[in-house]
Amino acid sequence: MGDPLSVRTAREEDLSRIAELENLVFEDTGFSFSALVQLFGPSGITWLVAEDDDGIWGYSLSVRATDDPQVGWIMALGVHPERRGERIGWHLLDESIAELQSKGINTIKLTVIPENAAAVGLYMRAGFQDSGQWKEGDLGDGAVRKILTLLLPPE
Ligand SMILES: CC(C)(COP(=O)(O)OP(=O)(O)OC[C@H]1O[C@@H](n2cnc3c(N)ncnc32)[C@H](O)[C@@H]1OP(=O)(O)O)[C@@H](O)C(=O)NCCC(=O)NCCS
Repeated sequence: MGDPLSVRTAREEDLSRIAELENLVFEDTGFSFSALVQLFGPSGITWLVAEDDDGIWGYSLSVRATDDPQVGWIMALGVHPERRGERIGWHLLDESIAELQSKGINTIKLTVIPENAAAVGLYMRAGFQDSGQWKEGDLGDGAVRKILTLLLPPE
């Protein structure tokens, strides 16, 4: 049996695999490889991947809000369909929260489609709360998104 799955900071050479997973998980609304390459340097304060001997199976992409340095946004979090239900999403979320907190962030926000039971279940379990609707429109897919917020206690 190989090494167990572990979570680590993403490197530039991981971006093509992250783009592949984004496309698999989010299809038309996922970040392309070129978008990830351009965002990685200036924005990627906490980008994580979950990997084992066979490769990368999940990722999370977080950024700092431009209007408030104490607010972080989890832009994307996904797990390969064949590896869901193994707590990979939980592990990535837990590490993302810890990493963001270690960088002075006290409020974490993200958007989710309310019908996405797996994602809503994951975030609610971690303590996120519904904090309203995200913008007026959508990402071009016709789906309305909610904002979920996690307030972190002072360290
Ligand atoms: C959401 C997602 C990341 C969860 O990843 P995962 O590795 O399968 O989830 P985990 O095994 O870590 O589960 C952690 C918790 O999430 C919740 N959860 C996971 N799958 C669920 C499901 N199908 N239904 C309800 N709750 C679910 C549960 O609370 C679970 O805890 P439990 O097992 O103790 O009950 C994964 O389903 C995914 O990639 N979905 C598509 C992309 C997406 O929707 N991303 C989030 C929106 S940005």
